Amino acid sequence: MAENLEKYSQGVPPEGSSGTGSNGPSLDELVGFSKRTGFVYPSSEIYGGFSGVYDYGPRGVELVNNVKTEWWNEVVRRRKDTVGLDSSIFMHPKVWEASGHVENFSDPLAECRVCNARVRVDHLLEAIDVPADDKMSIEEINELFDAHRSEIHCPQCDSQDFTDARQFNLLVASNLGNFTGDPSKDPVWLRGETCQGIYVDYRNVVDSSRVKIPFGIAQIGKAFRNEITARQFIFRTREFEQMENQRFVHPDAEMEEYEALREERMRYYTERLGFTPSNLRWRVHDKLAFYANAAWDIEFLYPFGFSELEGVHARGNYDLTQHSTHSGQDLSYLNPTTGERYIPHVIESSTGVGRTALAALADAYTREILPDGSERIVLKLHPKLAPVKAAVFPLVRNRADITEKADAIYRDLAGELATEWDDNGNTGKRYRRQDEIGTPFTVTVDHQSLDDNSVTVRDRDTMQQVRVNESQVEQFIKDGLRKPYIKP
Ligand code: GAP
Repeated sequence: MAENLEKYSQGVPPEGSSGTGSNGPSLDELVGFSKRTGFVYPSSEIYGGFSGVYDYGPRGVELVNNVKTEWWNEVVRRRKDTVGLDSSIFMHPKVWEASGHVENFSDPLAECRVCNARVRVDHLLEAIDVPADDKMSIEEINELFDAHRSEIHCPQCDSQDFTDARQFNLLVASNLGNFTGDPSKDPVWLRGETCQGIYVDYRNVVDSSRVKIPFGIAQIGKAFRNEITARQFIFRTREFEQMENQRFVHPDAEMEEYEALREERMRYYTERLGFTPSNLRWRVHDKLAFYANAAWDIEFLYPFGFSELEGVHARGNYDLTQHSTHSGQDLSYLNPTTGERYIPHVIESSTGVGRTALAALADAYTREILPDGSERIVLKLHPKLAPVKAAVFPLVRNRADITEKADAIYRDLAGELATEWDDNGNTGKRYRRQDEIGTPFTVTVDHQSLDDNSVTVRDRDTMQQVRVNESQVEQFIKDGLRKPYIKP
């Protein structure tokens, strides 16, 4: 297993691991599939890979762009009370002192004395069903660790000889603006979460836009964490993108707003992204941060079991109070109608682009036996998430008139939708290639098209084909993309 985890961190599919409770693919199947079809590659692979970092290939970049667009449309564009932001990755180092990250943003790390593997002690405890989490003090963690050492083995070499746990800070340091030659001096942090940029710009947004409480500020952007065990493919990486929405609310309305947000967020995954409802569940945090009023996670059934996809948290007025105290600036809100002044409370939803993409792939990946006994892999992605919306095939290659007609349709569609051209191999093979990357519609131009200007449009999920006039194809596909998606 440990060997497998190390391989995942380098993006190499391990042998012999299998999926969990779901009927979905195993993680090794998804890792191999993602590389073969151009969704995800290990970073710097020609140099042996770089642990905890991945690249999105030609299919992957379209998928993650679609993930971000759907989130942005849902959270910002469809709402009158939420605005967007793109704050910088580098911020004043005091931001991370005020937020508590410099002091507390850490995971409990121990080292195996035999093979030097570094392990997260809270994860090892959880694996033997001892409730532990990263909010416990290092003393609490070591107490539990000591009480259960006889049951805990090194995932890499099976030894039971570990150092005590110590807190390991996850912030990634840079030498930005440091010309002293000593990189350890006054580090400037790469942001560990995007929401701090939202809190420090809160005042500017209130002053420069027409938002009134309750309102949200949302942002999508990169975050960096020195994860001790970057593993499970794109689930936990050291460089990743977050999609975070911070809603600023009246203190008395916090819990009501929070419940509404929870409901919205779960509905988003089932209705907007078409995820299978039984692959999603809520998990409440047993232990809350001292300032938090509630914390639930939406978990997804990944190939390695249910794990966090998104956090939905009620954070009280902690964030704005901290930044107000450390900056010396007044971050209170004045209700223009009543004259009431208060520090708003914050409720947040926070998810990762990579985790959403991994959930989408795992949810959609399907192996089907066809009536003729052959097998197809089909990605039953919500059409809005599909990297390619339509593929155009000229039935045969050696007919200039068919190719010309198909090319005209391709150029029309490609101006509007992500469209692919494929004239390679027989149509059966072309269908298989599009099915496995989740292309919802394929358009074939054949001999009949020359006579009556109709083309065949095939549906990815049902494999049913209909004849559509070439002038109607674009609208036909757009209508198909707009329909609510119910996975067959
Ligand atoms: N502002 C709150 C916050 O950052 P978090 O639970 O640490 O909370 C929120 O992160 C979300 O960001 C997670 O639910 C997950 O989707 C994503 N995420 C966190 N760490 C990640 C990592 N190392 N790799 C990929 N995604 C990560």
